[in-house]
Amino acid sequence: MSTSTIHVPVLLAEVLEWLDPRPGQTILDGTAGGGGHAKLLAERVGPAGRVWAVDRDPAAVARLRRLARELPLVPVHSAYDELEEGGHLPEGGFDAALFDLGLSSDQLEDASRGFSFQSSGELDLRFDPSSGRPAWQLLEELSQEELADVIFRYGEERFSRRIARRIVEQRRQRPIRTSAELASLIRQCVPRSRGHRIDPATRTFQALRIAVNDELGRLERLLQLLPRWVKPGGRVVFLSFHSLEDRLVKRAFLQREVWERLTKKPVRPTATEIAANPRSRSAKLRAARRVPPEEGQQ
Ligand SMILES: C[S@@+](CC[C@H](N)C(=O)[O-])C[C@H]1O[C@@H](n2cnc3c(N)ncnc32)[C@H](O)[C@@H]1O
Repeated sequence: MSTSTIHVPVLLAEVLEWLDPRPGQTILDGTAGGGGHAKLLAERVGPAGRVWAVDRDPAAVARLRRLARELPLVPVHSAYDELEEGGHLPEGGFDAALFDLGLSSDQLEDASRGFSFQSSGELDLRFDPSSGRPAWQLLEELSQEELADVIFRYGEERFSRRIARRIVEQRRQRPIRTSAELASLIRQCVPRSRGHRIDPATRTFQALRIAVNDELGRLERLLQLLPRWVKPGGRVVFLSFHSLEDRLVKRAFLQREVWERLTKKPVRPTATEIAANPRSRSAKLRAARRVPPEEGQQ
């Protein structure tokens, strides 16, 4: 495990603008990852404040523990939707909360995790390798129809049936264990779209990652729980990277008795940020304010 992060935080200035952290506040960073956002939030809240730096990934939490030696951070190894049952909520709730969804560059670059198509490591794709089933196991256990369904629903891949058929044909001969093997199989049966630089394996990897980590189920649970965890008037910010998760956030923020939408349209990175950090290109930021119960009833 690398001791320092290579993840470049996305929409950093915009996150600070919309979250508006103040000295002394208690803030939740529910996806703290490499700690880029958490570090700046911790500097803003200062020694009288605290930033709960939560991540499912034990490797990320180990890095956050080192950061916590110098900053007012509280590292927590947990899924963001399990904070309450794990007894990890601060008394009185959070003044603000940030969720930067998806995976980090640290995870992408760690060959043993299987997130990168080039990786000859095992096709694992779990944010928390200590819980749940790895993706290679899913490829062995799901029926052809179930595989096609996952790839279509979570990857919005129109060649889902073809890919599922090839996976099933392949696994009869020899199980698919590495990311490179799966990526090469997909490239053989999906045409590269003209004018697009995106690898044909991208959508299937996204689909498997979402399924393995139950990303949409967890996000839905979080969106139901979050109003209870954030103080009245507190702000929340979400960064999403594909339409399936952005849609859930957008829909939750439409509940007017719970959230006051601060961003009517999602905030996007500037051309300068995209040029400097291509990973930011699909980011969408949405912000809302927790409506105090008395205002919500009017
Ligand atoms: C895009 S990265 C966050 C990067 C971070 N904002 C930074 O500045 O370094 C997303 C992180 O969320 C974590 N994650 C994904 N789903 C999670 C969940 N349900 N609960 C907690 N952490 C989760 C991943 O392990 C990953 O480290």
